Amino acid sequence: MSSPRFSNKLAGKRVLLAGGTGGVGISVAQALIEFGASIILSSSREAKVREVCAQLISTYPEAKDRVSGYACDLASPSVEANIEELFAKVGGELDHIVYMAGDRLPMMPLEDVTLERWQRCNQVRTIAAILVVKIGTKYMKKDRHCSVVLTGGSISEKPIAGGWSMLALIGAGLNGLARQLAFDLAPIRVNCVAPGIIETDLWQGMGEEGKKAFFASHESKIPTGKVGQPEDLAEAYLYCLRDANATGMVVHSNSGTFLA
Ligand SMILES: NC(=O)c1ccc[n+]([C@@H]2O[C@H](COP(=O)([O-])OP(=O)(O)OC[C@H]3O[C@@H](n4cnc5c(N)ncnc54)[C@H](OP(=O)(O)O)[C@@H]3O)[C@@H](O)[C@H]2O)c1
Repeated sequence: MSSPRFSNKLAGKRVLLAGGTGGVGISVAQALIEFGASIILSSSREAKVREVCAQLISTYPEAKDRVSGYACDLASPSVEANIEELFAKVGGELDHIVYMAGDRLPMMPLEDVTLERWQRCNQVRTIAAILVVKIGTKYMKKDRHCSVVLTGGSISEKPIAGGWSMLALIGAGLNGLARQLAFDLAPIRVNCVAPGIIETDLWQGMGEEGKKAFFASHESKIPTGKVGQPEDLAEAYLYCLRDANATGMVVHSNSGTFLA
């Protein structure tokens, strides 16, 4: 066989995964390692970063020199300095930045929304996201083979009962941000992955029983009959990284929730 045209597209690429120690992040990291990329994970907790790097190296010992990670708290008031420090530690050029940091889900009825809660809810998902792109793209070549992937959600287009107004606005904002940044940063590509409900620790706050009931109710309506798994969603990120012709797009992976 002549040299592969598709399976090597990510080989040797350096990819930073902000929020890379969560359910989605670990799946994307595994996929990138399997495709030969080097990954740098980041999240707020040093111990968690170390633990996830160790798990990945134990699963993929041959990739031990392609896995690293650094803590960076994106919820801190010193977020901009923390991000500068992160990229200084990462060092060198990056090919892609995948932003999937998200803290506890802030669902609440509209009457409970306050200025302080709204600002807190934005810090990791939007405020830090734009700062990571601002600082991180200084470390990228101006090339269509380089890209940024943001993470929004299907809530931007499909409402759910139960106090989702702040997240709907954040998700819609991220879709718009991806389009605008694709324009501003061209030829670097910028896309947004919009997941539906994916089975990860993000739903822990509901408690085991609450989560089961929520998933069962959702699964009774969605076409696939199954909430998304992180390894399903990882494909949406891979697409954004691999298709050098895709920019300013919102890529959905949501169990067909728009048809429900
Ligand atoms: N799962 C879903 O159903 C779903 C649906 C739509 C959108 N999303 C979005 O997809 C992204 C990934 O979600 P997930 O399901 O993988 O969630 P997850 O398992 O809870 O992972 C969240 C990640 O964000 C990091 N993080 C949280 N607070 C942070 C902070 N202050 N600074 C830096 N990193 C921080 C976490 O690490 P530390 O806690 O160690 O910092 C972790 O790496 C999130 O943006 C989420 O909103 C998920």
